[in-house]
Amino acid sequence: METQTPTPFTVIPNRRPATDEERWIAMEDPVFGKVFTDHMARATWRDGHGWADRRIVPLAPLPLHPGAAVLHYAQQAFEGLKAYRHEDGSVWLFRPEANAARLAASCRRMALPEVSEEDFLAALEALIAADHAWVPGTPGSSLYLRPLVIATEASLLVQPAAEVDFIVTASPVGAYMAAPGGVSIWVSRGYHRANAGGTGDTKTAGNYAASMLPQAEAKAHGCQQVLFLDAREDTYVEELGGMNLVAVRADGSILTPRLTGTILPGVTRDSILTLLRDEGRAVEERDIALTELVEGIESGEILELFACGTAAVVTPIARLVSDDLDVTVRGAGEGGSVADAVLARLTDLQYGRGEDAHGWMRRVLDAPPAEETAEGDAE
Ligand code: COI
Repeated sequence: METQTPTPFTVIPNRRPATDEERWIAMEDPVFGKVFTDHMARATWRDGHGWADRRIVPLAPLPLHPGAAVLHYAQQAFEGLKAYRHEDGSVWLFRPEANAARLAASCRRMALPEVSEEDFLAALEALIAADHAWVPGTPGSSLYLRPLVIATEASLLVQPAAEVDFIVTASPVGAYMAAPGGVSIWVSRGYHRANAGGTGDTKTAGNYAASMLPQAEAKAHGCQQVLFLDAREDTYVEELGGMNLVAVRADGSILTPRLTGTILPGVTRDSILTLLRDEGRAVEERDIALTELVEGIESGEILELFACGTAAVVTPIARLVSDDLDVTVRGAGEGGSVADAVLARLTDLQYGRGEDAHGWMRRVLDAPPAEETAEGDAE
């Protein structure tokens, strides 16, 4: 087994960073994942040598051999997490250790070398330090971090690559999907996302690639997202195309699909269920048949549905649609919307406005020194 002592990420600064004006324009209302900061983190692994060349470098296209295994066999794993600017200017990550653990699990499944938690955190911290000016300070905005592990070895053999890169990019983001009043969801009947023993609980490109056609089908039916049923029985709701599903009953209890190995264990899902349990709500994680969900919505037993994920945060669902289905979710009960309330609790703690009872936030940049006063300037 290779043992490695993590070394710091060396910074090679971008000599042509965006000007203040270019950055302000880019950050004004960024489309999710279309704007990137000036740098990226990178480290390289070679079989027998382990991870080396930890560095922060100017963001640039990758020189990748056309035979690189990732291009042919999708041997890769990735993550998504956000950095938040607090009112005093300091910058914080939300549960990065959970993302590090999930990336390690994804790497194991994809026969990739694991990135240690130390390297994962060091890369994020060094990248945020280099690109701190890109962390938005406006409400609802954050810096989305995309850690990525790819097989770079030029080899068409179907076997674990001997050369791998770890890369982290950063993007200022606002809302992933916005639909006032809630999004409409297309229940895919012809396509499944994952099978037992497959990669459904792994954050890897193939899951997302396979969701694009059903997602396009959803769009063609006027829906913003697709919902998949289980592949074995074509009966139970699993997850959306990149986010988990939660239902709120009229009695205030919570119902969500259990993690069977075919569903991604969302960090936001886990955080929200914890916050809901904290306030005394019963949370039931089990198999949920589509018919049970629809009947519950129609009878009024289920009042709310929402999607949750790092990108989506908490997005209320207003309608479920399919070839043989069109049902409107009633929405908030007497006590107000549970989705709105849990979103507020989650974002309050992420932005430093609420108590972090679980110690989920990790400070990665201190508040800048207080600006000099007018008197100070005059001295
Ligand atoms: C995330 O929420 O971070 C994801 O990776 C999901 C993707 C749909 C953006």
